[in-house]
Amino acid sequence: MRVLIAGAAGQVGQELLRLAPERADIVAMDRTSLDIADASQVAAVIARVKPELIFNAAAYTAVDKAESERNLVWAVNCDGVANLATAAQQAGIPLLHISTDYVFDGTGQQPYSETSATGPTGVYGASKLAGEQALVRQCTRHIILRTSWVFGAQGNNFVKTMLRLGGGRDKLGVVADQRGCPTSAASIADTLWSLAKQFETQGTLKWGTYHFSNAPACSWHEFAVAIFDQGLGADLLDRVPAVDAIATRDYPTPACRPAWSVLDCSKLKAAYGITQPDWRNELGKMLAQLKSGQAEARLASAQRVVVKDLDEAFQANSQDTLAKASKF
Ligand SMILES: NC(=O)c1ccc[n+]([C@@H]2O[C@H](COP(=O)([O-])OP(=O)(O)OC[C@H]3O[C@@H](n4cnc5c(N)ncnc54)[C@H](OP(=O)(O)O)[C@@H]3O)[C@@H](O)[C@H]2O)c1
Repeated sequence: MRVLIAGAAGQVGQELLRLAPERADIVAMDRTSLDIADASQVAAVIARVKPELIFNAAAYTAVDKAESERNLVWAVNCDGVANLATAAQQAGIPLLHISTDYVFDGTGQQPYSETSATGPTGVYGASKLAGEQALVRQCTRHIILRTSWVFGAQGNNFVKTMLRLGGGRDKLGVVADQRGCPTSAASIADTLWSLAKQFETQGTLKWGTYHFSNAPACSWHEFAVAIFDQGLGADLLDRVPAVDAIATRDYPTPACRPAWSVLDCSKLKAAYGITQPDWRNELGKMLAQLKSGQAEARLASAQRVVVKDLDEAFQANSQDTLAKASKF
């Protein structure tokens, strides 16, 4: 089955490449080869690649910067998703898209279900919600997978920030009054591939919106403490700093952060049997990847397969592409 990955250079995009089934026929494109904000490019690429499934891992994800770059954020997270949705619908291709806990206002006290009222508080969350709505309107066969607190060996994330800051400081203040579920990019990729395999076997999926995160819920402070503990154990740190629990009001940011981000993932489990991995195990795997330098090696190898020029890629790989176009 041929799968097109948009946003292949991001945290989740890289894991989609790394964890792709052996025989999957993948056309992975980063922003330089497929800008989802460009409607005509999206239509042309889909017409040329003729995928049977599309993963959208592309997004504008800089939550704070988003507050001052509204037009760009909207062009990617709303219009970009609409472009993919329109082209996918016209070509009859299902679109599996990733969204976020930031579509909620963060004032909840129970895990958010797929039917909980949305109410984003910042530009990023509002643009992601608008993207979801465009997808629902414009592409019948879609999956929206909302997730939270993503970390992985590729790209920038909280784990890497803590390792960087923690190594050089005696003391660090980390917010303790925001709760959510850290989620490894690898487990998101696994979930998407599991859905893709089911689509290939059954020819359909139970379309709609689903929540997926790792478990259990914790605060950023608890997450930081676990990162330092495991980072020390994995020899990625020589020492750990004291971690002070601070309040959100003591760490002002341009974008408001949800105090409560916990997602109820029972719908995905009921529909597909997909359970929530423990983020502490996922963190251990990510740190082991960093430790062994696999991350860099995988990044290098993954980048080799990100398609920069479609015509060139198809000419060079036509035999390979045909060979792999069988079931995975
Ligand atoms: N990170 C989190 O904590 C988090 C939490 C919840 C949900 N999510 C969602 O999870 C998904 C994956 O996030 P991630 O953490 O993997 O983000 P990421 O590492 O920032 O990756 C996003 C990728 O999209 C690319 N991109 C940006 N604009 C694009 C465009 N116009 N066309 C094509 N590609 C474009 C980026 O390229 P450049 O780097 O070159 O701009 C980047 O490679 C997103 O939908 C995000 O909203 C993330």
